[in-house]
This record gives sequence, C-alpha cells and structure tokens, in this order.
Amino acid sequence: MVTSASPTTDSLAPSPGAGSTVSAEEGGVAYENDVDLLSPNRNLAPITARCDGRGRLTVGGSLLSDLVRTHGTPLYVLDEATLRATCRAYRQALAEHYPGEALALYASKANSSLAITALVASEGLGLDAVSAGELLTALEGGMPADRIVLHGNNKSAEELQLAIDRGVTVVLDNWNDIELLTRLAASRPRPVRLLVRFTPGIECHTHDYIRTGHLDSKFGFDPDQLEPVLRHLAACPWAWLDGLHAHIGSQIFELEPHRDLAGVMADALALARSLGHPCGDLNVGGGLGIRYVGSDDPPSIQEWVRVVAGAVAEACRQRQLALPRLLCEPGRSLVATAGLTLYTVGSRKEIPGLRTYLAVDGGMSDNPRPITYQSLYTAVMADRPLAEGTETVTVAGKHCESGDVLLHDVRLPAATPGDVLTVFATGAYNASMGSNYNRIPRPAAVLVRDGVAELVQRREQPEDLLRYDVLPARLRPVI
Ligand code: LLP
Repeated sequence: MVTSASPTTDSLAPSPGAGSTVSAEEGGVAYENDVDLLSPNRNLAPITARCDGRGRLTVGGSLLSDLVRTHGTPLYVLDEATLRATCRAYRQALAEHYPGEALALYASKANSSLAITALVASEGLGLDAVSAGELLTALEGGMPADRIVLHGNNKSAEELQLAIDRGVTVVLDNWNDIELLTRLAASRPRPVRLLVRFTPGIECHTHDYIRTGHLDSKFGFDPDQLEPVLRHLAACPWAWLDGLHAHIGSQIFELEPHRDLAGVMADALALARSLGHPCGDLNVGGGLGIRYVGSDDPPSIQEWVRVVAGAVAEACRQRQLALPRLLCEPGRSLVATAGLTLYTVGSRKEIPGLRTYLAVDGGMSDNPRPITYQSLYTAVMADRPLAEGTETVTVAGKHCESGDVLLHDVRLPAATPGDVLTVFATGAYNASMGSNYNRIPRPAAVLVRDGVAELVQRREQPEDLLRYDVLPARLRPVI
C-alpha cells in the first residue's frame, strides 16, 4: 500500500471539486477516483495514468522516466487505452442515441499517423483527410477507402485524382472543386460519391455564439449558393451527391450550437432531396472540447452525441425526412487526452521580483498552440506528479522567440536540470502542427499499452533536415 501527499492542484481531477483526487491502492496511487473512464476528453491525464510504488508517473503501464531513458526527449507518448476508449465512446453513444445508422470519422488533422489510423480503423471508425498526405497516411494505415472523406478548401487536381482513384468520398467545398472534378471524373464509368459542405451560419465562440446568414469563412459554400450548387449537380452525370456537411468550430463546450445546426442541416437536406439527390449522409462535423486545465469543463462524449443525435432525429421527424446516416468528425476529443509530451528540464533564469523561467528541450516546434492561441496546458514532474508546487515558474521552450513559452506562471515542485516534465493533453494539434523552426528535429512518438512501449514515429535527426536542401555547385565551399 502506498500513500502519497495530496496533489496540490486539481490538475489531475476531471472536474473541479469532484470527489477525492487520488486513491491509494495496492501497487501505486491511482487517479481513478476522479477519472471519467467513459469520456476521456473530460480528464487531463490518459485514463491509464497511475503512480508506481515510488510515486512516479506511469501511463499505459510504462514508467515515463524509463521511456525517456530509452527514447530521449522531447517525446510524444500516446496511450492506446485512452484512444480506444474515446473511439468506443463515440461508437456506443451513436448506437444508443441515434435511431438510424451512424459513423464517427476521425478528423486526422488532429494527429495523422499510420499507427493512429490503424487503431482508429480497428475500432470501426472512419476518417476525414484534408490533403494528399493525410489521405495517403489513412490509406496506408489501413482505413478502408469507403470510410474516408476528403475535405479541403483548395484541393489540387492531384488530390482529387487520388481520392477518386481510390474510391474516397469528396466533400465539395467550392465551385473550383466542381470544375476540376467535371474534368477529372467526366469520363469515369461510375459517378463520384460526394458530400456538399456549406456554411451553416452558426458561429461559435468559447462561451457564446451567434447566428448569421452569411459567415466570413473560407470553408464551404455560402448558404446562398447551396441551391444553385444542388441544381447544377443534379445535371452532372459524374456526380453522386450523397450527403451534406457542415462544421461549426473547435474546442466547443456548448451544446446549443450543435442543436441548432441540426435544424439548419435538415432544411438543407429537405432541399437537396427535393431536387432529386439521395443524400443518405448528414455530416455534422466535429468540435467537442476537452479539458486542458482543471477549470475546463467540457461535456462528455455521451452528452454531445445525445444532443446532436437527438436534434438530428427530431429535425428530420419534424420535416418528415427519412433518417440519413449520421456522420460526425471528432478530432481533438478523440485523441488529445491520449497524448502527453515529455521534456527534459534544462536552464533556469531567475529575474528577481519578476519571473523564473525554466527551459525545456522542446517548445513551439513540437507544440505551437500556446504561442498561436495562448492555449493553456497542465504539467507535472514525471517522477513526482503529486508533489506540492513550491515555486511559480514559466516553462519556456528552446526556440529563438520570446513568445516560445509552454506554460505561464505555473506552480511546480523545485526542478533541476535533467528532471522530466510531463505536459498533458498534447495528443491533438501538436505533432500535426509542429515545425522545424530553428532546424529542431521533430520528436519521436511511442504508443504505450500494458507495459509495452512501441515506437510509432522515429525521431528526426539533424541530418534529415538537410535532405531537401540543394547547394548549387557554384556555391560549394572551395577547400
Ligand atoms: N471537421 C472539420 C471540417 C474541421 O475543420 C475540423 C477541425 C474537425 C472536423 C475537427 O474538429 P475537432 O473535433 O478537433 O474540434 N488547430 C486548432 C484546431 C483547428 C480545427 C480545425 N478544424 C487548435 O489547435 O486548436
């Protein structure tokens, strides 16, 4: 039996003030009491996070500091159990709350890799891709083409060609897509399966939202264009318009906008069917938020699905429409909490009376969200996650940019060079938005499960970064 100091923050609790924060149990201290096992987007840590007998953090049965010894830092860690739990949560909730067929498509922009694709595919989900790169990753990762949709507001002819060659559904975003496909698909024996994306006029902010007729968005057809597009497609033999798509935003905690979206989409569905399009699919996009810090309180996956599915079913019933297959496209809520990033602590700068900077060996190139969106994160020391915070520090990255700060003014126990810092909830929009700024190689990624850690992304080496440089002969150094 291990006892431990109480955590000093609610950082590991799923909701502020909910129950006790840790439980002492045989073999370690678990966060279980507070963990929402059914809806991992409501936790900060992966659902398998535990302390070992010495109070050190383990995830998926792997000791995080061991992973660092083997793989180095910065290191992305992905917990298979958490990812599978979110996939199952979406599947089960859709089966429970939607009276018709339904399918969740993983928005792979959140984190695109062969391993994640394979896991998501094995859980029976589909996938949304937005480029040839994401599409190839999906196909190579084993996602069946008939469960993939290709999005994009400026698809190239090559991307469209790849999609139609492989039998992937294309989401029409604008007239340029239609013109390109008219050329590429006209002579094909079978029509191309399509959805049409339109701007639904519902704009979400974090805590309130507005509805407007025309939204200033680069994505999708303006509502005014919907009818002309539907009429145009009705006369295109190459086009099989089988559904509609809309997406209202990301990291949304409110349910009301999604409820309203159902009515807007059902009106569009009625219009499309009246013009002769079968429109079997209604794709309501993604957007469910996650908990990055203790004060975030997103709805559960079950609650989100219940509201969305109920609203779509009700809107169809009111309009006497046969139920479409319901598609949704979760990205962040599916993969963010499964991921965390490990860093090694390095230099420290104390500015008396002002601030203490603690620098780590990564930063904005592996997690550009703080500098881009002022996003907040939660961090603990990997080998003493429950230790009381004894100082307020600002965790800085190593890039040549003053704004390269991962966490502002957070309480941490005293850290010395070589200590390992864990930043939670980095599974979405971190690796996928990463860069090589300052020619810093991208981190490795490991998948953890039942005490086994498998490499799923090799660490980039500095030499890799030179691979695409070309030095003209006349500039070569003369020796
Ligand atoms: N479907 C479409 C058409 C989308 O544009 C998106 C996200 C999703 C689904 C998935 O949304 P999610 O479930 O992840 O909220 N880089 C930003 C997020 C950009 C989201 C873009 N579109 C961030 O790091 O917060």
